[in-house]
Amino acid sequence: MALVTMREVLAWAQERKVAIPAFNVDTLEIGQALLETVEAEQCPAIIAVGQAAIRDGKLAALGKIVSHLAADVSVPVVLHLDHGQSVEQVVQALCAGFTSVMIDGSRLSLEDNIAVTRQVLQIAQAAGASVEAELGAILGAEDNIAHDDSKPFLVRVQDVVDFTGAVQVDALAVGIGNAHGLYKGRPNLDFQRLQEVKDVTNVPLVLHGGSGIPGDMIQTAIEIGIRKINVATEIRMAYVQGMLSASANGDYYEMVTAGKDAVRQMAKSKIDLFLRR
Ligand code: 13P
Repeated sequence: MALVTMREVLAWAQERKVAIPAFNVDTLEIGQALLETVEAEQCPAIIAVGQAAIRDGKLAALGKIVSHLAADVSVPVVLHLDHGQSVEQVVQALCAGFTSVMIDGSRLSLEDNIAVTRQVLQIAQAAGASVEAELGAILGAEDNIAHDDSKPFLVRVQDVVDFTGAVQVDALAVGIGNAHGLYKGRPNLDFQRLQEVKDVTNVPLVLHGGSGIPGDMIQTAIEIGIRKINVATEIRMAYVQGMLSASANGDYYEMVTAGKDAVRQMAKSKIDLFLRR
């Protein structure tokens, strides 16, 4: 089917009190494995293109690949820009057929974050696309998207009130101690802060840094109100490790097949967890 916006799949998740997986795509083969899995599992999904893939010159090509593959899938699929860095980048994604964009103004002052998000909303609405914004810092480093780990800051509840009062975004990513990349030990997620945020807004909430968060913490986050969970590192790692496991005789297609199998298994395990099956 044709691509849909994030608004549609988040409404589906909200009705069922589950979270939609947002998987990052970096190669054609990862895209194939992801879309085969969401079809097999009949799970609506968000396929996101991140900043490393964009720096590698793949924004439009990955967009075309995902649109093409999604046409053969019977569940709703969203093509999403992850951590959009500027209005210009958002425009590039929309021109490439993305149905959803994130504008990451979390490093800006609240006023500037509101201003850039408002600009993106106007442009995205004209293109019929949905918009995700971010408040608070998501820690760690991925795709060169990093805040200073020495000064972690949780999302401020009053910022959520002010931000969501000023701009009507479709989804809001919040920093609650979550980090991109793998965690060292058990993550230190502040569920009390997440609950306080949930109490002041009906905007669907997003948990970045989904790789390596234990199942019980994912369940708690979903119970409180997380409706989208991003997974990038574990998908990439599954692909690489799968390929390496079949590298003995150096046959390219044996390696790719093993890589795709590993991505399918990883994506299925996240779908089972996020959809509470
Ligand atoms: P991980 O790489 O930790 O899964 O985080 C993904 C993410 O949040 C992308 O925005």
